[in-house]
Amino acid sequence: MESSMKPLSLDFNQYYKSFKLFLERSTEHECLQKFIDENLPDVIASIGKKGGSSLNVLGVGSGSGKIDLEILGKIQSKHPGFFIHNEVVEPNPQHISKYKALVKEWNSGPNISFTWNQMTSGEYEMQNKKRNESKKFDFIHMIEMLYYVESLHDTIKYFHSLLETNGKLLIVQTADDGGYHSLWRKAGSRFLSSCLFLDVHKVLDEIRMKYHIYELSSIFDITECFIEGNENGELLLDFLTHIVDFRKTAPADLKAEVLQCLRQPQCSREENGKILFNNNLHFIVIDY
Ligand SMILES: C[S@@+](CC[C@H](N)C(=O)[O-])C[C@H]1O[C@@H](n2cnc3c(N)ncnc32)[C@H](O)[C@@H]1O
Repeated sequence: MESSMKPLSLDFNQYYKSFKLFLERSTEHECLQKFIDENLPDVIASIGKKGGSSLNVLGVGSGSGKIDLEILGKIQSKHPGFFIHNEVVEPNPQHISKYKALVKEWNSGPNISFTWNQMTSGEYEMQNKKRNESKKFDFIHMIEMLYYVESLHDTIKYFHSLLETNGKLLIVQTADDGGYHSLWRKAGSRFLSSCLFLDVHKVLDEIRMKYHIYELSSIFDITECFIEGNENGELLLDFLTHIVDFRKTAPADLKAEVLQCLRQPQCSREENGKILFNNNLHFIVIDY
């Protein structure tokens, strides 16, 4: 990465703002909800020990918890009467406090408890190893967070090793044929860390893990990025490039290249005067 630019993941406040706006301008959460409603029930049907009455769930990179609570609701309805212990790993303090507020409002009933870990996945792994803990989980999800880890291989291997018998690991990433991959492949070497270039399923093939992929379509309205001086457009550009204040800090030739690339058919399409970025998602389910 060129030295004038700062990764968005290192600035909690700016990340929170630009991710929030991304959610407002995209169908990201609608797409996740569709998977939760239509596919997740089958995925979670077989989790849990035979004859057991409790389930351990781990969310890594949970954000503000909206999607995690939807997942927990589905687990509750698929396994009625089970006690669920939900553990959260999330480094951003703003996301954790939103999540806690959401839990307070949520009418979950008495059969659920939460453990909060305000830390990265790497710090969580270190903490467990220091404490000699080897707690296992029936369901682990890592939704749109593997871009930020140091090693994709090691992170997937570690969290897979935490699966209980019959457990499932769900990874959600942008699809390889989506707009992000085109943008990152074209210009990303100048502004991204290397993990963003790896395809999760290729890593899974290398480490010989069996998986099942579902692809669901999603769009992201990036029209404001092309309105000079538009504050929302700047925040959205930060999210697309994962750089804080990309428009102000990136070299002029890189800015021009990124804006041009975003309009290419590999990244987006124009519809009713709007520029709609391809935000398709891969849902990767890995067994125990
Ligand atoms: C794109 S957001 C996704 C949030 C949530 N899963 C959702 O789908 O709404 C990525 C989340 O991963 C968190 N994150 C960033 N680096 C992380 C790391 N190394 N370990 C765990 N979480 C991380 C961010 O703080 C953010 O909340």
